[in-house]
Amino acid sequence: MQEIALKGFGEVVKTVTFRVKRYSPENADMPRYMEYKVPVQRGMTILDGILYIKEHLDHSLSARYSCRMGICGSCGMIINGKEKLACQTQILELGKDLIKVDPMGNYEIVKDLVPDLSKLFRNHQKVKPYVLREEESPTSEYLQTPEQREEYAMFTDCILCGMCLSACPTNAADELYLGPQALAQGFRYISDNRDLGFEERLNVLDSKHGVWRCHFSGACSEVCPKGVDPALGIQLLRQLLTENIFVKHKQKGTTRGPERKSASGVS
Ligand code: SF4
Ligand code: FES
Repeated sequence: MQEIALKGFGEVVKTVTFRVKRYSPENADMPRYMEYKVPVQRGMTILDGILYIKEHLDHSLSARYSCRMGICGSCGMIINGKEKLACQTQILELGKDLIKVDPMGNYEIVKDLVPDLSKLFRNHQKVKPYVLREEESPTSEYLQTPEQREEYAMFTDCILCGMCLSACPTNAADELYLGPQALAQGFRYISDNRDLGFEERLNVLDSKHGVWRCHFSGACSEVCPKGVDPALGIQLLRQLLTENIFVKHKQKGTTRGPERKSASGVS
């Protein structure tokens, strides 16, 4: 640790205990917590603490990370009971001497703090997260005004960390539920004025495990590290689907979703 201190963080301010959930598939019926004493320097994050444990105390501890700057979305875990990015959570700011670290919920665990995010990515794929058009290749530029982009702009900030799905009580009860991330992305694309895939996504979004399954606990939006509001996306998606029932009668033959003036003002 002194070596790390000299290289970057400065003097040790205090020592905290990390209580980390350990799990291995070989002993799947025996998950347990292990405690590690971690000397803390100013600026150290939970991820730094975990890497300290790995390097100095227990090489067998597994965690996933990559960018270490809140961009890749790899290091989501439950820190003192709340989903957080480990690389964006300062140890000293937690103000605790005991820090409990669990893997994200609602996922199978590969090992220790590493969740299997396949479900998240599968659900994301199901909503076809790209602009759908009828023509095979573009014939011209698909123009969009800043106001049209604003309709869905917030939802483009999703980094696929999966923390909203971890916090979601509906997913805990229905593991086939599409989940807040995928539903918010469904809204993002069908509210894009360049997209023509409204009907094509309906069988997934408007299904038993789709948008109507959410009961608005709002936990997803509380934990999102990028300020995305998936609960709002789900409400706006419901509004679009409901409007479409009426619009279908007026716009026979179109595959587009209904035109909307603004996404704001919807509670
Ligand atoms: S909506 Fe937020 S919490 Fe959910 S996957 Fe995207 S960035 Fe993570
Ligand atoms: S390591 Fe990339 S977001 Fe934390």
